[in-house]
Amino acid sequence: MLKIKTAVLVSGGGTNLQALIDAEKNGLLETAEISLVISNKEGVLALERADKAGIKIEVISKKEFPNQMDFEEKLNQILVENQIELIVLAGFMSILSGQFTDRYVGRIINIHPSLIPSFCGKGFYGLKVHEEALKYGVKITGATVHYVNETPDGGQIIMQKAVEILEDDSPKTLQQRVMKEAEHIILPQATEQVARRILKEREEK
Ligand code: GRF
Repeated sequence: MLKIKTAVLVSGGGTNLQALIDAEKNGLLETAEISLVISNKEGVLALERADKAGIKIEVISKKEFPNQMDFEEKLNQILVENQIELIVLAGFMSILSGQFTDRYVGRIINIHPSLIPSFCGKGFYGLKVHEEALKYGVKITGATVHYVNETPDGGQIIMQKAVEILEDDSPKTLQQRVMKEAEHIILPQATEQVARRILKEREEK
């Protein structure tokens, strides 16, 4: 079966990457093939997970490429060399410029740990998202997979899943539940959906 070569971009623990790897293994993800994992940080757990799964790894460290344009040039070069058709940002802690995202319209997706348009945009990452949700007092939060454009968390929404906030939730417990109950479920589903769309477009050409 024809598959869409997919790169997963990471910066940290890689639990979302792991959800994608597991989904590919158990057949939930069948149209996208995770053929490359790229990290902008050395030594992160996500790289170990990729290595264990036998997936090719590239590191483009911010130290080596402090200039964003140079970083993105290198990133693009690696993506082209590996014939990547779909890019999944899974805990990738770097904002990509419009110049870069314009090259990959409809081909980059991101997972965000809230129900966009709440608690998103510049500065809303990691625990901060959940701290703000608790501070505001919302009773429901969740996760969103969306296309990536020049506006942080501003691209078209692909999939969302709600998670109830419990009375004794801390930012940490909420973060864990949002990951387990929403992120790790919808990221593989949305990746499959987008890969199918790309494959269909390719076949129609
Ligand atoms: C996730 O909460 C993701 O939504 C956010 O960063 C976190 C990454 O976690 N963008 P992991 O590296 O996938 O474990």
